[in-house]
Amino acid sequence: MTFETITAEPNAQGNSGVTLITLNRPKALNALSSVVLEELITAFAAFQADETQKCAVLTGAGEKAFAAGADIKEMSDKPAADFYLDDFFSKWTSHLVKTTRKPWIAAVNGFALGGGCELAMMADFIIASDNAKFGQPEINLGVAPGMGGSQRLTRAIGKSKAMEMCLTGRMMGAEEAERANLVVRVVPQADLLADALKSAATIASKPPMAAIANKEMVNAAFEMTLEQGVIMERRIFQILTASEDKAEGMAAFIEKREGKWKGR
Ligand code: HXC
Repeated sequence: MTFETITAEPNAQGNSGVTLITLNRPKALNALSSVVLEELITAFAAFQADETQKCAVLTGAGEKAFAAGADIKEMSDKPAADFYLDDFFSKWTSHLVKTTRKPWIAAVNGFALGGGCELAMMADFIIASDNAKFGQPEINLGVAPGMGGSQRLTRAIGKSKAMEMCLTGRMMGAEEAERANLVVRVVPQADLLADALKSAATIASKPPMAAIANKEMVNAAFEMTLEQGVIMERRIFQILTASEDKAEGMAAFIEKREGKWKGR
């Protein structure tokens, strides 16, 4: 599949079942234009539809940025009515968060600002390079986060830090982001892609239906009460016990061999 502003590579760098999607406008610090938006949705839809692909990694081209935000030049003279009538940016959430049921990882390799930070937070988890910088600097432009930043950042790092970042536009470095639980771990920039692909390959080697179920359960913790979430977890667990991969997984353990997954 060929794109103008991104690249998408199934079985990336020899990692079977892992799709690497790269934002590829390094001169504009991978700013998220409407073309990027459409192409990302197409790439994620293809990843979701391809039965051979089990986990994706999203990163940014170049050494400076994952994505420095929504494209300010494109937004600067757009009338308010168009933002409202197009329901600007709602498609990201519906496609990247809801339609994409398979797991995916954000490998943040520099600036993740505004929409870039929000995009990273839509991933199932974030791995950061040591030069990563996260921020919601929209206040400096006379606006505010519009793609979930005020909600996801607050849930991830708590009110005080999220509030301070939104009100001051301050960027948070990688070490602080790890301490604040925004990212899983920090690795040297040169090792970031290999680390994220390795993590994705590990996930891709697991029983695929169980991977989707685990993702669904953890995400439910953000949407449900504890009681509802625990009931939902129990029901999904019970459904998984009927799967062929459960029979295979338990037999493989007892027979001391690797499981061979069917994804059913
Ligand atoms: C369009 C951008 C851009 C952006 C950078 N560029 N960020 N273009 N949209 N968000 C472009 C610059 O215009 C410049 O192009 C080139 O990338 C390099 O950027 P510089 O500013 O020269 O680099 P540097 O001095 O290193 O500063 C890096 C930076 C700064 C600190 C990241 O670029 C910056 O502050 N960017 C904006 C960050 C931001 O405010 N993001 C939030 C956007 S609003 P030229 O052609 O001049 O070389 C948002 C809202 C989401 O995301 C919700 C909407 C609903």
